[in-house]
Amino acid sequence: MTAPVRAGTFADLDAVMDIERASFPTDAWSVDAMRETFATGDAFVAESDDGIVGYAAVLAPQGSGDADVLTIAVTAAHRGKGIGAALLEHMLETASMRGAHRVFLEVRADNPVAQRLYASRGFAVVGRRPRYYQPDGVDAIVMRLDLGEAR
Ligand SMILES: CC(C)(COP(=O)(O)OP(=O)(O)OC[C@H]1O[C@@H](n2cnc3c(N)ncnc32)[C@H](O)[C@@H]1OP(=O)(O)O)[C@@H](O)C(=O)NCCC(=O)NCCS
Repeated sequence: MTAPVRAGTFADLDAVMDIERASFPTDAWSVDAMRETFATGDAFVAESDDGIVGYAAVLAPQGSGDADVLTIAVTAAHRGKGIGAALLEHMLETASMRGAHRVFLEVRADNPVAQRLYASRGFAVVGRRPRYYQPDGVDAIVMRLDLGEAR
């Protein structure tokens, strides 16, 4: 099943929050935090016949040179079908369009699937933040993609 990616809007927030809470059971963002992210970043949703099945957001201010992947998740039933990769590609295209040279992200050290997604797109590990994710006390792996080299 295909799931085309489009820009996310506030009208998508209920569906997005359902995926957020299911995907991050111990440290889901609040709806206010997600609304703020949709307001300040570029948000995307993937929509299939089942409705919204994934979302992502990137912060890529024009002129900054750097961009940050803020969040990405796909509903469990639709993982492994290329939707996460498509959402990531939209974020990287946006970052590139805004003139970013580098894209950063943090990922939980205990999330090898997401790390693999990022590594497959050329992100490299550049640091580690101890106990960054609370309340679980899990380290963050910091990853970076140099767009000039990758694109
Ligand atoms: C991480 C996540 C967004 C990936 O989305 P997805 O739609 O399942 O990913 P895709 O099908 O597009 O796969 C893209 C790449 O991710 C990696 N990947 C995906 N599923 C994987 C799995 N089960 N095991 C290992 N690697 C996997 C692979 O590198 C894959 O590329 P390939 O198909 O060429 O091998 C999804 O698993 C998810 O929502 N997880 C829960 C939320 C989360 O962890 N978000 C990231 C926070 S940093």
